[in-house]
Amino acid sequence: MKLWDDVARIMISEQELQARVKELGQELNATYTDEDHPLLICVLKGAFVFLADLIRHLEMRHDVDFMEISSYGAGTASSGVVRILLDLERNIEGRHVLIVEDIIDSGRTLDYITRNLLTRRPASLRVCTLLSKPSRREIDVPVDFVGFEIPDEFVTGYGLDFAEEYRNLPFIGVLKEEIYRNAEI
Ligand code: IMP
Ligand code: MG
Repeated sequence: MKLWDDVARIMISEQELQARVKELGQELNATYTDEDHPLLICVLKGAFVFLADLIRHLEMRHDVDFMEISSYGAGTASSGVVRILLDLERNIEGRHVLIVEDIIDSGRTLDYITRNLLTRRPASLRVCTLLSKPSRREIDVPVDFVGFEIPDEFVTGYGLDFAEEYRNLPFIGVLKEEIYRNAEI
């Protein structure tokens, strides 16, 4: 398959992802009760695969909603521009809200989302991210649940894209150098 030929290296295998996502689900089961009835907010597009696997480990009653934020062009570096492309369907006032993110890089996107959601007065606001690149952080945003801390390398797969492609790879991988070469990094 052509797409897979673009992969230089697997950083986190499918098995490792599945095992860790299950553990994160168990952490959430220990955090929230039926009574809390948390609202999971999936940050599109990158987090949709993670959310789909994560919720299948949840035992408490919960809802999901979606939000799409744009902060990147086709390249691999943050433009610093953040805007809401798709907002939530419902009011979150008084709700226990969990933001589900694919990756926290500079922290700018998450900082924007958390500040925006806090103005809507949720009962609580927590963050669950599959990946985090701590060495890239520019804004120190609190994160409650982290799947994996990874080094400063651009990764794709399991929902994460490069120029909208590679989201379907079942692992987290690094692409070959020549694939990234033409992007504005
Ligand atoms: P931040 O605002 O710099 O923290 O970037 C967060 C967003 O950038 C994530 O939600 C991703 O959509 C995207 N992003 C950051 N690093 C990567 C990466 O290595 N691969 C794919 N997308 C990334
Ligand atoms: Mg994202």
